[in-house]
Amino acid sequence: MSTPTLEQVNAALATVNDPEIKRPITDLNMVDSVVIGEDGHVAVVVLLTVAGCPLKDTITRDVTAAVSKVPGVTGVSLDLGVMTAEQRAGLQEVLRNGQAQREIPFAKPGSLTKVYAIASGKGGVGKSSLTVNLALALAKQGLKVGIVDADIYGHSIPAMLGIADTRPTQVEDLIMPVPTASGVSVISIGMLKPKRDQVVAWRGPMLDRALVQMLADVYWGDLDALLLDLPPGTGDIAISLGQHLPNAEVIVVTTPQEAAAEVAERAGTMASMMHQRVIGVVENMSWMELPSGERIEVFGSGGGERVAETLSQRFGYNVRLLGQIPLDPSLREGGDSGKPIVDSDPTSAAAVAITKIADDLSGRGRGLAGLQLGLTPSSKF
Ligand SMILES: Nc1ncnc2c1ncn2[C@@H]1O[C@H](COP(=O)(O)OP(=O)(O)OP(=O)(O)O)[C@@H](O)[C@H]1O
Ligand SMILES: [Mg+2]
Repeated sequence: MSTPTLEQVNAALATVNDPEIKRPITDLNMVDSVVIGEDGHVAVVVLLTVAGCPLKDTITRDVTAAVSKVPGVTGVSLDLGVMTAEQRAGLQEVLRNGQAQREIPFAKPGSLTKVYAIASGKGGVGKSSLTVNLALALAKQGLKVGIVDADIYGHSIPAMLGIADTRPTQVEDLIMPVPTASGVSVISIGMLKPKRDQVVAWRGPMLDRALVQMLADVYWGDLDALLLDLPPGTGDIAISLGQHLPNAEVIVVTTPQEAAAEVAERAGTMASMMHQRVIGVVENMSWMELPSGERIEVFGSGGGERVAETLSQRFGYNVRLLGQIPLDPSLREGGDSGKPIVDSDPTSAAAVAITKIADDLSGRGRGLAGLQLGLTPSSKF
């Protein structure tokens, strides 16, 4: 067999994406050198963005696999180097695409990313659980999905996804979101603090800066959907979000009981005051199904329907009940162990309910023909 050409090897390298940036390593100037021996042995040097990059094993595996496939290649050796400050600055330039700093890509008029803010009046109703599972369900459809954990004080998203100890890679002042095995990219204020156990006691302006940092200083690439997990209630973060991302569509989470529903309505109204469109309500912990098939309504019933109706009347447009998620011990276990149920137990009742909501949001749900889903940019509130 003839010796592989440099062109062939480069073409193979161009199929390898950087796992964090999700673009070909060849576009990112990460391939430092390629030497092809007469015996078909290929030696590649790849430059990592930072020393000790947590994903170097993935890069090694992917590069070796891609180059090995080129006809005539008898062996691959890969050396990993690290970019110089100058090279990193060059990469940052490539990633920013000439765009000014501190610009929120999702707020730009032409943005194709659907932004969903998951909000609630009360704490502990399941916002974070819904956020991670919804993100995974959307990613399973092949969408590129990002999560911003905007719960500054109570950040719980990284733990729910099993990446609590991962620090994001930084390329100069551009931050790479942390990729998960399921393909969802995540950033959380918990990852940006100097120390994980540090307590954040910030007031409005600092919270606002943190939110902007997670939106503007993070390289998100071209996302189909961005989910924001909000802290409970109608506080500073909700106001900041309304100012920076007025095009975000809000999903209100409530439990079925009366008192929770009333508080959820306030959260929905707050979003509307910030000129955000409330696209729907998710009722969580709706019932518990016994092995006998009997349903126990642990937290009462009707809350989700009531919030949807009240908000529809208040705003003059249809706010739908997007779904009801049953109480499901495997959902909690999945959250605690960092393996969300949509991945770990996809046939469980709660996973099925959440997947249905994801299908609905991305327009794949059944029986939606002719329904105004409020999903087109022109239907902004
Ligand atoms: N449908 C469900 N079945 C069983 N457990 C659930 C369900 N939904 C949420 N939980 C559990 O309830 C707890 C609270 O959920 P979660 O953290 O998602 O709520 P939250 O609204 O984000 O809370 P906070 O307001 O504190 O951020 C978690 O332990 C979670 O695993
Ligand atoms: Mg939460």
